[in-house]
Formats: sequence, C-alpha cells, structure tokens
Amino acid sequence: MSGTFRAPKGTYDVLPPFSATWLAVRDALSAGPRLAGYGYVETPTFEDTALFVRGVGESTDVVSKEMYTFTDRGDRSLTLRPEGTAGVLRAVLEAGLERGSLPVKVWYCGPNFRYEQPQSGRYRQHTQVGVETVGSDDPALDAEVVWLAAQGYARLGLSGVRLLLTSLGDATCRPAYRDLLTNFLAGLDLDADTRRRAAINPLRVLDDKRPEVVAQMAEAPLLRDHLCPACQDHHTAVTGYLDVLGVAYVDAPRLVRGLDYYTRTTFEFVHDGLGAQSSVGGGGRYDGLLATLGGAPLAGMGFGLGVDRTCLAVAAEGLTVAETARCAVFVVPLGQAAHDAAVTVVAALRGAGMSADMAYGDRGLKGAMKAADRSGAHFAVVLGDRDLAAGTVGVKDLRSGDQHDVALSALTTTLRELLS
Ligand code: HAM
Repeated sequence: MSGTFRAPKGTYDVLPPFSATWLAVRDALSAGPRLAGYGYVETPTFEDTALFVRGVGESTDVVSKEMYTFTDRGDRSLTLRPEGTAGVLRAVLEAGLERGSLPVKVWYCGPNFRYEQPQSGRYRQHTQVGVETVGSDDPALDAEVVWLAAQGYARLGLSGVRLLLTSLGDATCRPAYRDLLTNFLAGLDLDADTRRRAAINPLRVLDDKRPEVVAQMAEAPLLRDHLCPACQDHHTAVTGYLDVLGVAYVDAPRLVRGLDYYTRTTFEFVHDGLGAQSSVGGGGRYDGLLATLGGAPLAGMGFGLGVDRTCLAVAAEGLTVAETARCAVFVVPLGQAAHDAAVTVVAALRGAGMSADMAYGDRGLKGAMKAADRSGAHFAVVLGDRDLAAGTVGVKDLRSGDQHDVALSALTTTLRELLS
C-alpha cells in the first residue's frame, strides 16, 4: 500500500481488471429492462431527508439507523439516498409522468448509501440496477418485473440464484393479521429488544434467525393464510404467470423485507454462496407509496438488484463474464517521425472502429514490444522512420509471431480483414 489516504470504511474502489466484470454485471442486469422498453432515469444522489422518512418508513433500520444525513449551507436537511425507489417516484410525480400513458416504466443504476456494519457483501456504498413501474396493478406486470430480474442473473450464467416469493397483503388484510401476530407474540418468551422491535413491526420477528426465536415462531400465524380474497386472487395470478414464463420460485411465507412500503407481491433473489449477505436483489409491489408521497393512489411495482453482491456471486461460481479490457491493435513507433505519425495512425484505426493503443514515451524497440505484448493486443503495428519514408509498416501477429509489411495506405483495411 502506498499513498496517505484510504477509501472510506465500508467502501471499495472498482479498478481494472475487476472493473470489466463489474461493468458486465451492470450491463447484464439492465439489459432486460432496456429491451423491454423501460426508459432510463437518473435522479440526484441526495434528496430531502423527509422523502426517505416518509417513503421508506421511520421504523426501518435503513431510516432509523443507517442514513447519511447532513445539513447543507442553506440549512436544508439532505440525505444521501439509501435506496432508489423513493427518489424515482418523487421524480415521476414532480414531472407528472403518472398523468401520461400508464404504466410508467423506468430503469436506473446508481450508488446507494447506508451506514451499516461493513462485512463481506455489506458496504456503506453499494450500487443497484433497478426498475420502477407506476400505474398498473395487473399481476402480469408483477410477473414481468420478476422475470426481468431472473433473466439478468441467467444472462450472466449464474445457476445458484433462488427466487423467494410471497404476498404481504394490503391495507385490507394486513392490519387484522398484524393484530393476530401481535397477540401470538404476547404469549412468547422474548427478550426486551425483540419486544421493542415487535412493537414497531411485528412481522420482523418472523425473520429472526436465532434458534430460540425460530423455535417459538414455528406455530406463528402466517399472512399467506390470512390474505383477503383480492390479494389471494392477485397472488394466484402472479404465480400462474411465473409458471407460464418458466420462472422457478420458492414459496417464502416468512419473507420480510427491510423497507416498509411493500404490499402484495414481494420477492428476494438469494445466492447460497455468499454467507450471511445472501440477498442479491429484491423488490415487490408498493401500491400505497405514490399516495404517501402526495400523488394519486396509483399502484407501483419494482426491483433493486445489487451489482456488488452479484459480482460476488459471479466470483463464487467461478464464472468469467467479461474479457479484460484490451486493445486489438498496438502501434509501436521507432523514432521521432514515426512517433508523430503513430498519433494519426492510432486515431485513424480508432476512427475505423478498431480498438487501438500505442507506446508512449521513448521506450526503444524492446521496451515497446514488451508493452505491446502486455497490452494483450492481437496485432502490433511496427512503424520505423525508414518504413515511413517508404510508406510501409510492419504488421506482427502477436499470437503466431508472423510479421509482414503492409502499405500504410492499406493498413486500416488490412487490419479490419485480419481481425474479422
Ligand atoms: P433492498 O433489498 O434494500 O431493496 O436492496 C436491493 C439490493 O441491494 C439487495 O438485495 C442487495 O443485493 C443490495 N444491497 C442492499 N444493501 C446493500 C449493502 N449495504 N451492501 C451491498 N449491497 C446491498 C431496495 O433498495 C428497494 N429500493 C428495491 C425495490 C425497488 N423495491 C421496489 N422497487
């Protein structure tokens, strides 16, 4: 290690060669929404603090413990976004997109910030590829969103991703279930901390992994058995569409997500090779959220897929999803006139759509050829002052070692043929 400064605790740099994998993962996860006609959105990295308090929910760990909140020089309370949904819906409402044709369908990619205890797969800055849809409660749309996420992982060749699926009901059936669960919890032997958590959101106890709690929760009532007929019908329709689309899922009646806005369809993608931080993505319906943010009572549905954890899943499965970024052609100039000519040769090659680089500085033949080899290029173009006068260059196949002279004027076409 050198230098005085380090990346802040819980963050890391995306550097070559790993960055090629990172980009490939980001692109694979967003390819589905792009092909399905979702429009791209980008919102500010910080928003009014109140947006997240209202949108994500005051009782969540994300809002109560993990937000990066600061007061700016104009005395406004701002927060680095901990997740993407609230900001995207704020933007949709601000622009009035929900008054146009529905559903609104958008995708995004960007960093999120949570003050969590860092560990493998859990960072204070992480990147998500997400989609949000507004204005349709059609269960076929739930299935589309889930399918798009599943396709992203499949596109990378991941085989160890499992989809956990449930329904969290709605304002009709969840309150009654909440009371039922609260009564059940009152009869259990729980520590004070768990009781406090239960008082804020009793559903959280369903997700407690400690054996003494798991054992007591074995007989707990499950929301799935207390859905109202409309939620039950919706869930049956969603699973029917997923079957048609060939998306395998595991019924997960105890699934609880860390954000408060979910209703009905709720899901998480988990990977078993990642230890405790197994969730590589998740999402669901949030039919009340738009109204909570001051908009019309329109339905919503989306997902957020973790780029960082998906990269870890790719590594855990030993997959290669990206070529290391390399140039196809590397120009080696010998002498000052050749060096100056190489600048235009490289520009012409790049202009013709070939990836090309050159040896900068005065390295001599040996040093420059070493740089050509290290670059991983397929072909080296050796350009000497004397060749230049004759209007020729040497083209060397760095894999076979074959070399022959080519007229400078025919270089682009020759290389294009050789590379095709
Ligand atoms: P989330 O489950 O909080 O959902 O985050 C989505 C994904 O982001 C997680 O499954 C995980 O892969 C990744 N992630 C979250 N926190 C961290 C972290 N500290 N370090 C590394 N990766 C992390 C949401 O944020 C919702 N906005 C998703 C959504 C969109 N629901 C509906 N629409």
